[in-house]
Amino acid sequence: MTNPFIFNGYEGAELFFDRENELETLMKCVSSKINVTLIAQRRMGKTGLILRLIDELKNSGSNVTPIYVDIFATRDIAELNKCIANAIVKIFPDDTSAGRKLLGMLKGLRPMFGIDPLSGSPQVQFSYQNQTEKEHTLEGLLQFLEQQDDPILLAIDEFQQIREYPETNVEAMLRTYIQRLHNVCFIFCGSKKHMMTDIFSNPQRPFFSSTQFIGLDAIPEEKYAQHIQRMFSEGGMQIDNETVKYVLDWTKRHTYYTQRLCHDVYELNAKSVDVDVVRGCCDRLLRLNEPYFLQYKQLLTDGQWNYMIALAKEEEVTQPYANAFLKKHNIGATAVARRQLQTLIDKDLVFEETTKECSYYRVADLFMLRWLAREY
Ligand SMILES: Nc1ncnc2c1ncn2[C@@H]1O[C@H](COP(=O)(O)OP(=O)(O)O)[C@@H](O)[C@H]1O
Ligand SMILES: [Mg+2]
Repeated sequence: MTNPFIFNGYEGAELFFDRENELETLMKCVSSKINVTLIAQRRMGKTGLILRLIDELKNSGSNVTPIYVDIFATRDIAELNKCIANAIVKIFPDDTSAGRKLLGMLKGLRPMFGIDPLSGSPQVQFSYQNQTEKEHTLEGLLQFLEQQDDPILLAIDEFQQIREYPETNVEAMLRTYIQRLHNVCFIFCGSKKHMMTDIFSNPQRPFFSSTQFIGLDAIPEEKYAQHIQRMFSEGGMQIDNETVKYVLDWTKRHTYYTQRLCHDVYELNAKSVDVDVVRGCCDRLLRLNEPYFLQYKQLLTDGQWNYMIALAKEEEVTQPYANAFLKKHNIGATAVARRQLQTLIDKDLVFEETTKECSYYRVADLFMLRWLAREY
């Protein structure tokens, strides 16, 4: 019996749970060529959802050609070009007419073709002389997509990475190119909320009001609980309501963590799963990750580490500079706390979540949160 709880990558619609509404909205946006901004916490399921959408486009016989790029590892426009070009080359093989056109177009950009020794897939490398050439190449790649008979979806994952480029005009440039396209629609996906919302909703910035926002919340409790119970029961295991609730509370329904814990519990293949069994799994997961958490202890100052512990113990903190909170955890003055919190956010160790009711801060890695709260 294969484990129905995946926590790594996308393995087809069958093992991808829920997100029907978000998928439907995305399908509608793609078919009406509306650009989308998809923002949610890390490990909430954004990349999975995009891959699910691409699957759906293929399975539903849509004429849209989807292209996915993850630009997390890119450091400048030249690497962005390479990343997009490689994705395009994979979709349009050189024995097709579109592929030949692509080659023709790329030739003007003086590329070098090769094969990636690791994956064996085709690779493009550009040799540039100056910045203008890099910008032309990006425009050329988008123009190539614009000229295809079938509409194109270009999904750019970890989009906030463009903020790290040394070039300061990327946003304005992309906006200008994108506005001219009628045959290409975009998904901009990212997890650094402040950066993403700043790129897309700050009127001073070029992407203002040009896209539809889609967020990903946790999967509703009832739904997730029923799903977990059904999966266990189909695998010949019993898990009671109280235990499922324990799983969902302990992982706060943060998708990756819930999937991971369910996966590990499922692996035990226990006829009857109770809270003690689950606790054992939680314990094992924390021990497994301990060396990784301890690395952070080395990387942070004592003050920052102490602030992490304080946040972890409170689970969610709405007033991170309140006197009572600072006193209780020996944090020090407000100004100190402000700096510590900002550093932790910049390092992606803490995130700020804004809901309809309030906004709060939380240790980003849920297992680390549970470990800190337990150990200190
Ligand atoms: N709806 C889902 N159903 C099943 N597993 C999911 C779902 N969403 C996410 N996951 C699992 O959680 C992992 C983390 O999700 P991912 O899409 O990588 O998050 P993000 O891109 O937001 O950081 C995925 O690799 C996948 O295994
Ligand atoms: Mg992702």
